[in-house]
Amino acid sequence: MPGHANLVIVANRLPVDQVREPDGSTSWRRSPGGLVSALEPVMRIHDGAWIGWPGVTSEQAGDLQPFQLDGLSLVPIGLSADEVEGFYEGFSNATLWPLYHDVVAKPEFHREWWESYVAVNRRFAERAAELAAPGATVWVHDYQLQLVPAMVRELRPDLKIGFFLHIPFPPTELFGQLPWRRQILEGLLGADLVGFQLSGGAHNFVRLVKQRVGHHTEGNDVHLPDGRVVRAQAFPISIDVAAFEELAGSESVEQRATEIRAALGNPRKVLLGIDRLDYTKGIYPRLRAYSELVADGHFDVHDSVFIQVATPSRERVEQYRLLRDDVDRLVGRINGDLGEIGYPAISYLHSSYPQHEMAALYRVADIMVVTPYRDGMNLVAKEYVACRLDDDGALVLSEFTGAAAEFRQAWQVNPYDIDGMKAAILAAANATEDELTRRMTAMRRNLRGNDVNHWAASFLAAL
Ligand code: F6P
Repeated sequence: MPGHANLVIVANRLPVDQVREPDGSTSWRRSPGGLVSALEPVMRIHDGAWIGWPGVTSEQAGDLQPFQLDGLSLVPIGLSADEVEGFYEGFSNATLWPLYHDVVAKPEFHREWWESYVAVNRRFAERAAELAAPGATVWVHDYQLQLVPAMVRELRPDLKIGFFLHIPFPPTELFGQLPWRRQILEGLLGADLVGFQLSGGAHNFVRLVKQRVGHHTEGNDVHLPDGRVVRAQAFPISIDVAAFEELAGSESVEQRATEIRAALGNPRKVLLGIDRLDYTKGIYPRLRAYSELVADGHFDVHDSVFIQVATPSRERVEQYRLLRDDVDRLVGRINGDLGEIGYPAISYLHSSYPQHEMAALYRVADIMVVTPYRDGMNLVAKEYVACRLDDDGALVLSEFTGAAAEFRQAWQVNPYDIDGMKAAILAAANATEDELTRRMTAMRRNLRGNDVNHWAASFLAAL
């Protein structure tokens, strides 16, 4: 029997994670990552239902029923401890994640993980099919759920089905490594519209469908044997620009920014990195580049500091543990070698912060350093630009992020080239006020014209 929701968002995570407090009670905390930041405002406008995982195992969460939180209608999907291991940590984050990010780390292929991926995708699809009203729109998100579109279509051919991939879609040669490449492509072809961050991703997808599934393609359209047409198209995602501007301009954020600067000893230059602690983000080479600039005498720890916020992420996946050890060791060595009493070269925070604190940090930072080896978009770069209400501040940005296509006026860098990164950070540090204003004004203009509502509206209109 069909349900009542006219828009169903299907994403691996709910916008909130369940957390257990020391006294045994439970509460909800905003979950990490760009997907949640992007979709939350969309949900508010469209009054949809959001299906997702509450971030803890079913054994820990118990039986969770649909609930309302802050005006959002949330439908939890349970994952057992085995499924968290096989579907989430395994196939999603140790197979697909590194494969789709240019094999920055080596992907692992395990048949049990794949089976878990199929089973969990089916659970999401069945729930979406139950909740959707006749003729409703189901919008499926990201690499964890690529089989869901075809599964939903099989159950409910009356629905409009969209899929959006928040991470890069890899070149055909890399995707070809996947033992289940054809199943994934067929899963995605269940959608009417498959959205990517960049047109390159859409091209890779269409080329693969032709190569591996053998369907006829024409430009960005795939013609299926049953007459259905699936379109692949780029929709660069964004943030809620007005909300960030308002937050950044609030008295309490301004006050907090002043406090942070004072706590740092009112330095002349503050550099900032904010990332999930992920090996794709290029945290290691960025800190090395900065430390060499300090060692070479271009920055002085008495009047400069690099704040690196690393949000804990996927901590049970081996590559993430190794990364944490590497970054811990590097920060320790840099501060040990270059810091002085009361003046660390790097102020390192392994923690997650609310948006208010992030906005204050963005206001404090003279130079924002965003250097992923590969990133679908990178919303941190967009958040920084949105928060620079005085059109000042410098953005150093990896050319391998989706955001680089829009922020042409950033100091663009290749994160594999440490000397190039050093030169860009230095150029940003020495830029005149006029130059900073010219660059930031252009980036802010671009951002304002492409906020998250525009992204969602264009996707839904195309669907
Ligand atoms: O944007 C990519 C993404 O994997 C999202 O799908 C996800 O919500 C976010 O990063 C954070 O990752 P995770 O849900 O694994 O903590």
